[in-house]
Amino acid sequence: MKTRAPRILLASAVGLALAAGVAWWQTRHVPDLAAVTTAIGGPFTLTDHTGRRVTDADFTGRYRLIYFGYTYCPDVCPTELQAMSTALDRLGADGERLQPLFITIDPARDTPAHLADYVALFHPRLIGLTGSAAEIAAAARAYRVYYARPPGGDDQTYLMDHSSFVYLMGPDGQFLTAFPSGVDPEKMAAGIKARLQ
Ligand code: NI
Repeated sequence: MKTRAPRILLASAVGLALAAGVAWWQTRHVPDLAAVTTAIGGPFTLTDHTGRRVTDADFTGRYRLIYFGYTYCPDVCPTELQAMSTALDRLGADGERLQPLFITIDPARDTPAHLADYVALFHPRLIGLTGSAAEIAAAARAYRVYYARPPGGDDQTYLMDHSSFVYLMGPDGQFLTAFPSGVDPEKMAAGIKARLQ
């Protein structure tokens, strides 16, 4: 854990710098709304935890709550997924308008079968998504997600570095907002509700 903390801080710092950059960019380019809303998000083709091939288009018309992480994560990922689940439940009927998605950044270990066991721990409607290394890289790139396997560790027990944001995407796949790591579930629920139309 001691060696991991700086990496998490680094990943968070990268994420925050990115968010700050996006915010700066938005304030400097307010008239260009179309470009802003396409800055985060985009098409993906992945495999869900039942083995079905899915694309972003399968969720057209639905709000999406998306988190990138990995099932072997000892702390941050389970915390964020639990926060998402709590926020969705707090929203009641409104929560059912959202599709929660968990996209792994560790496809080597996060097989569909492994994801199936994992997502069931958090929310009955949570869909786990995995894919080839290239498919995951493309999805992460679209959402500006940083991830890396640091040197060391064996192939069973290694940890991954990754940025940690919960993305709220609109029915057309447009970026609405992102919640930082550690956000209170009540605040997440309120932030979601404020953006539902
Ligand atoms: Ni994690």
